[in-house]
Amino acid sequence: MIEHNEAAFADLMAKITRDSGFRCASYKDKCLRRRIALRMRSRDLHSFAEYSGLLDLDPREYPKLLRALTINVTKFFRNWETYNAISQKVIPELWGAGDERIAVWSAGCSSGEEPYSLGVLFHQHAESCGQIGKLARVEILGTDIDDDCLGSAQRGLYGEASFSDTPAAMREKYFPQVAGLRSVIPAVKQLATFAIGDLLHGDPPATRFDLIICRNVIIYFDREAQDKLFAELHGSLREGGILVLGKVETLLGAARDLFRPISSRERIFRKA
Ligand SMILES: C[S@@+](CC[C@H](N)C(=O)[O-])C[C@H]1O[C@@H](n2cnc3c(N)ncnc32)[C@H](O)[C@@H]1O
Repeated sequence: MIEHNEAAFADLMAKITRDSGFRCASYKDKCLRRRIALRMRSRDLHSFAEYSGLLDLDPREYPKLLRALTINVTKFFRNWETYNAISQKVIPELWGAGDERIAVWSAGCSSGEEPYSLGVLFHQHAESCGQIGKLARVEILGTDIDDDCLGSAQRGLYGEASFSDTPAAMREKYFPQVAGLRSVIPAVKQLATFAIGDLLHGDPPATRFDLIICRNVIIYFDREAQDKLFAELHGSLREGGILVLGKVETLLGAARDLFRPISSRERIFRKA
């Protein structure tokens, strides 16, 4: 059993934030407790003070803890129906709006599966319009707080498990096998760039985006941080720009007035 010592828990949160920059105070408490308890159990520790001591003594523990706290699970075309809706309702509109650059932001992109999935949809659309030569106007920025994940995103090499939601024909065409892994084809890979970024701290990218996809990230933030982030995402979209959230995420409070639904079911919204 893990102790119920609130003061020791608060000290541990403060220590993690001080040492690593991970802003514990803005994440949902229950989620933090569950993740920390998992790490403590794996080290057979039952008090927060002991675990805090271990973080100082064992340099291998911090990366493991941060990995547990950031929750990096993702895959290509996660929730296929959402990508289907993006492909039908969003990409044709953005592509048809002129010859200008199309700026896309995948906020909390983990190891890159989400931005590359969008890249594939743009590639498919450009091909179907006979305009593959214009694909370079698509610029997809992927940001995440986790440096290791961004390294994987930049490599663009993935195991088979990442493709469990990807139709086989798409997988074969866009992710050919290379030495036991699958590699994103260059025409899609070159659409994406990656940068470190904390959605809870610091300025958002300077660009005004046509499309922001921020899925399965906001759900881990507390209400105050969610409100602040929705307002920032609104500010980062151009007039009429589009926001896509995760399947179990929703706009709350004041954020409801900032966007109007394009597809409530697939959590696709337009800047109001
Ligand atoms: C569950 S993954 C979601 C990945 C992808 N968006 C998807 O839906 O498949 C959550 C990602 O959010 C990132 N994350 C958590 N807190 C963050 C923060 N404060 N700023 C930026 N990224 C954050 C994590 O590192 C992780 O890669």
